[in-house]
Amino acid sequence: MEKINLVSGMRSTGKLHFGHYMGVITNWVKLQEEYNCFFFVADWHALTTKFDKTENLKQDKLDVVLDWLACGIDPEKSTIYFQSNVAQIAELHILLSMITPNNWVERDPTLKDMVKILKNKDENNSDNMPQMSYGLLGYPVLMSADIMAMNAGIVPVGVDQLAHLEITRDIVRRFNNIYKTDLFNEPKPKLTQVPLLLGVDGQKMGKSFGNDIKISDSEETTSKRIMQCITDRTRARKDDPGHPDNCEVAFKYYQTFADADTVCQVECECRQGKRGCADCKRQLGKIINEKFAPIRYKRQEFERDIDKVKDIIKEGSKKAAAEAEKTMQKVRDAVNI
Ligand code: TRP
Ligand code: SF4
Repeated sequence: MEKINLVSGMRSTGKLHFGHYMGVITNWVKLQEEYNCFFFVADWHALTTKFDKTENLKQDKLDVVLDWLACGIDPEKSTIYFQSNVAQIAELHILLSMITPNNWVERDPTLKDMVKILKNKDENNSDNMPQMSYGLLGYPVLMSADIMAMNAGIVPVGVDQLAHLEITRDIVRRFNNIYKTDLFNEPKPKLTQVPLLLGVDGQKMGKSFGNDIKISDSEETTSKRIMQCITDRTRARKDDPGHPDNCEVAFKYYQTFADADTVCQVECECRQGKRGCADCKRQLGKIINEKFAPIRYKRQEFERDIDKVKDIIKEGSKKAAAEAEKTMQKVRDAVNI
């Protein structure tokens, strides 16, 4: 039986952090055994908000792919590409934009959140950037084109993307209805079930908050960052009994990255006041560095052979374009254009 197509993408935000690793990439690595996976860097989507900050775009796109490859996304199993290398996606986006009612996109809650964030940033920004462009309004339509171009049956996403995907399903139904076809599958979301990893300061982890640890950070930087993690704030001295449940960053990282025995030991010693937070975090830094050592090593190997990486992307883009072209021939036929 032929494998179902799976599509997922990430915006080109540059080097990825632990949150991406736990929340997305480890999941993708497993999915590539089961599905025909298309993983792409959404560089057009990046422009919906960062159209005026493109100085680092080329490097950011490459950095995303370098992290994927280092973490085990395998070009022999999965198709890896840049969105902007597949012109068929743009063509499909135009056709979908014709059949998408304005109010479907206008009431997309995720989009509303994005605009709110932009507005907040804008208050401190003299550039006077327009808050909602035509392109940003079309964000979920472009996302639908990404998914429908590969006629995906399944789309792994985080909860914040569910609203977009609901619009995709509506657009699929509407297309099939209007053009009297069963060309498109209704793609099912596959929610990523992972504990949310917080940044070192206890807030949501994100590059723009400056509280993230990158997959590609050096051992030294990682250790330093781990020492900045907040711990149980009610604890004054190291022989005070601690509360691992209140240690939302350091202990959570243990639960995420250490083996069960270690977690158990840390928990007991902390509760009994037999473990100081500084020592505890030093050990945590070591554990995390050990875990990421092979990944970092692999990344450096790919960095040294960047032409190979560019070839992987070129080949992947060709494959993705061929798949999208297959879809587009049927689409043009259905639309009679
Ligand atoms: N909007 C997604 C995000 O910000 C990225 C994305 C773009 C995507 N197109 C997609 C994800 C298609 C899944 C399928 O995370
Ligand atoms: Fe957290 Fe470790 Fe300190 Fe306990 S000893 S509060 S687990 S950092």
